[in-house]
Amino acid sequence: MTTNNRANFGSKLGVILASAGSAVGLGNIWRFPYMTGEHGGAAFILVYLGCVLLFGAPIMMAEFLIGRRSQSNTARAYQKLAPGTPWRWVGRMGVLAGFLILSYYSVVAGWTLEYICAAGLGHFADKAPADFVNFYNSFVGHPWLPVVWAAVFLLITHLIVVKGVEKGIERSSKLMMPLLFILLLILAICSVLLPGAGQGIEFLLKPDFSKVDSNVLLSAMGQAFFSLSLGMGCLCTYASYFKPDTNLPKTAFSVAIIDTSVAILAGFIIFPAAFAVGIQPDQGPGLLFVTLPNVFQQAFGGVPFIAALLAVMFYILLALAALTSTISLHEVVTAYLHEEFNLTRSKAARLVTGGCLVLGMLCSLSLGLGKDYTLFGMTLFDLFDFVTAKLMLPLGGLFIALFTGWFLNKKIVREELTNRGTLHLRIYGLIIFLLKFVAPIGIAFVFINELKLL
Ligand code: PHE
Repeated sequence: MTTNNRANFGSKLGVILASAGSAVGLGNIWRFPYMTGEHGGAAFILVYLGCVLLFGAPIMMAEFLIGRRSQSNTARAYQKLAPGTPWRWVGRMGVLAGFLILSYYSVVAGWTLEYICAAGLGHFADKAPADFVNFYNSFVGHPWLPVVWAAVFLLITHLIVVKGVEKGIERSSKLMMPLLFILLLILAICSVLLPGAGQGIEFLLKPDFSKVDSNVLLSAMGQAFFSLSLGMGCLCTYASYFKPDTNLPKTAFSVAIIDTSVAILAGFIIFPAAFAVGIQPDQGPGLLFVTLPNVFQQAFGGVPFIAALLAVMFYILLALAALTSTISLHEVVTAYLHEEFNLTRSKAARLVTGGCLVLGMLCSLSLGLGKDYTLFGMTLFDLFDFVTAKLMLPLGGLFIALFTGWFLNKKIVREELTNRGTLHLRIYGLIIFLLKFVAPIGIAFVFINELKLL
């Protein structure tokens, strides 16, 4: 058994903020806005909220209870709770998903480092909106610069993971999360006040349901799983560090609310600003990196020092938010290799970092030099995003819901969700209903609908 000496998070707030630290990241501030932009705005957001409530929150509770009960890495968790059954493949698929996500996520995380430097060195001063588009395109298409930044980001993640992260994650999350929230709020206010912002606000608030097709459903569902770090054992691993008195349903709701608020706030920063400066909302992955420097320029350009300072602060916080997520992704794979293959922790971490570096390099190149090489009509970068967020995570979520709703002993489920009967949980029946029926049928429905179209 490798469960002795398992570390615990120190406080209830620490538990919530560390889990929120894994959840809040590029998914909220980079991926959510461009997905919303590509899928028509408010209608996408409503479908997304539905997915968070009906699938996300209950599946997060399920991951929490599996992790805390088993006190293990995600692959071993299923082996412990369901010995000798194929359920262990759910854990293994999660580990693979984590590895693939980390590879392309590090590339985007690396972009934030370039933007910190560019903003800090004053490269954004006096630039017109079109210049930011060019800056982004020439940077992302550069043959080696983004690869170097991705490597730097992976290296930082590596060093933290090797050191062991319990205290580090908890302490840094406590400081960073509130700071990020305040800065996002300030930026959202600036963006909404820009002349011509009204169209962007309307885009966020006025749903056009004619835009909702099966692709929107799949994208919103994938985004919910990605943003909440669900379906691949990340929160399951964190929950193995929870104390027996951690209130699992309450923690899950808090994390879901924090995560969703950050995403919506990011929307209120990006779209009003994008419309104000005439940038199309369906730009894809470049949206955040093109519109935000514009917000700083337009709102504070008169005082270049303030504009640069705010930009640097924002990209530092974005990098840190990404870092708490990359740590959680790296930790899932490292813990698995370390515990299941008897490798030392540092050797396991080296393998993960090395593997991600190679895949990340290919992903990055696929946006520039290798643009013309596609698989199933997608660049490698898009393919990784599609396979993980839209296939592996929802599929993982489906199995987690089935495992908890149907397979796992009801006594265990009740004990964990109510802390052995000490919590009065009025919505217990509802949670079980969602896990047993709504989440599995809903996820299966979205898959089937999409596959019919293929
Ligand atoms: N939730 C993280 C984000 O939004 C990404 C992530 C996905 C992290 C899956 C861990 C597991 O940026």
